[in-house]
Amino acid sequence: KGKSKTVWVCSDCGYDDGQWWGICKQCNGVNTMKQFSEGVERPTRGFDVSETVTRSWLPHESVRAMPTKLTDVNKGINPLSWRIPMSGLFGAEVGRVLGGGLVPGCLVLVGGDPGVGKSTLLLQIAAIVAEGCDMGGPAPVLYVSGEESVEQIGNRADRMRIRTDELFLYASTDVEDILEKAQTLSLRALVIDSIQTVYLRGVTGSAGGLSQVKECTEALLRFAKKTNIPVFLIGHVTKSGEIAGPRVLEHIVDVVLYMEGEKYSSHRLLRSVKNRFGSTDELGVFEMSQSGLQAVSNPSEMFLSEQQSDSEFLAGLAVTVIMDGSRAFLIEIQALCVAGSSVSRQVNGVQAGRAEMIISVLIKQAGLKLQENGVFLNVVSGVSLSETAGDLAVAAAICSSFLEFPLPMGIAFIGEIGLGGEIRTVPRMDKRINTVAKLGYKKCIVPKSAETSLSALDVGDTEIVACRNLKEMINIVF
Ligand code: TYD
Ligand code: MG
Repeated sequence: KGKSKTVWVCSDCGYDDGQWWGICKQCNGVNTMKQFSEGVERPTRGFDVSETVTRSWLPHESVRAMPTKLTDVNKGINPLSWRIPMSGLFGAEVGRVLGGGLVPGCLVLVGGDPGVGKSTLLLQIAAIVAEGCDMGGPAPVLYVSGEESVEQIGNRADRMRIRTDELFLYASTDVEDILEKAQTLSLRALVIDSIQTVYLRGVTGSAGGLSQVKECTEALLRFAKKTNIPVFLIGHVTKSGEIAGPRVLEHIVDVVLYMEGEKYSSHRLLRSVKNRFGSTDELGVFEMSQSGLQAVSNPSEMFLSEQQSDSEFLAGLAVTVIMDGSRAFLIEIQALCVAGSSVSRQVNGVQAGRAEMIISVLIKQAGLKLQENGVFLNVVSGVSLSETAGDLAVAAAICSSFLEFPLPMGIAFIGEIGLGGEIRTVPRMDKRINTVAKLGYKKCIVPKSAETSLSALDVGDTEIVACRNLKEMINIVF
């Protein structure tokens, strides 16, 4: 039996295409492209889409694919050539992280700790995509929640002053049911909150389990590719990233974004970790307010305001950038030098041997009289420093405390320290410096040997200062 093929037809002019378009390519009608299956008699006007629902996303209905001759491949439209634009300051920030707008038919995973603001972010994205100011007009977007009731989401939307006409809310955890509803609405985009709460009938295991999470994601991927409707998935991650969730799904989806933030700070970062349609160096900066997330267009201002709220500058505090997979993180290292302390060394989050080495190098190669001092080291917020890239920040923190000289807030340190007091380069310098620059740091101390390879980097207003050794660093900074 011939497998029916999905086609998009303009209900105004009858133009048909293998892909969905927000604006008909023939008559420029807005949101007139309706989906239906080939082989079914094709009405050209006002047909009932529900008749044409295909269920090809289901695992048991997947087509056995055959190899295709290259010359027979219908190359279609380059996914990079057209994107769903996202308007406004907030939309521009999200669009930039996505690589310049939303690609039709892409599957986007948004991961993050519980409570970081994923549902808030996606509700806002859903609203701006539905409003579609830059697309000529509104079109339906469906926000499905398996965690909250429609009323709860509605209340949240009210608080955020979202009143988009074409935003549909639906509480469901049954993927088959969700996708059937999605098809009848002729959507511009679909949001699933969260992938851990949905399930597919006929797949073993409970929602949130490895097989359910994988099968559901694959079904949603097939749906996105078949219909060209972009799909957003929310995924919770724990600090360890161990649960059957985002880490497993990163391979399946097209785009992976992570949302990060600290409990005591209202700032949220949206980071692209994987993007089949754009760069992964993008970083969006937002502020969580009473009425949802607001784009911070100038992160250095955000940085300065945070600095001003800290009434006193502390000596013994230095910032470095560590990598976690492909993600760069800023962390703070604290040092406390106490003359005549009965405890000689106490380290937390830094390897004891490494700390001892850095202290010895500071004594021998930089002439710091740390011998009669107790030295305490701590990495803020319980992260462990497992990379040598943090050496320079450890040394700077110790110097700062010993000399009782607080470091200015907008300065970061990246580099490994050798036994001769020399500062060595570390992997992924570009990525680390990019993060520092995007966050509006004023100065970044790097190894001299990395200087030339970094010259091509766009660092904005951040000053890159290259140092050969510890003495040089101390002379420049202190
Ligand atoms: P939420 O989006 O529910 O997080 P997640 O989906 O990642 O679990 O948001 C969590 C927090 O955000 C919650 O503690 C309240 C806060 N919040 C605001 O500060 N302002 C707002 O406008 C909204 C909607 C939430
Ligand atoms: Mg949520």
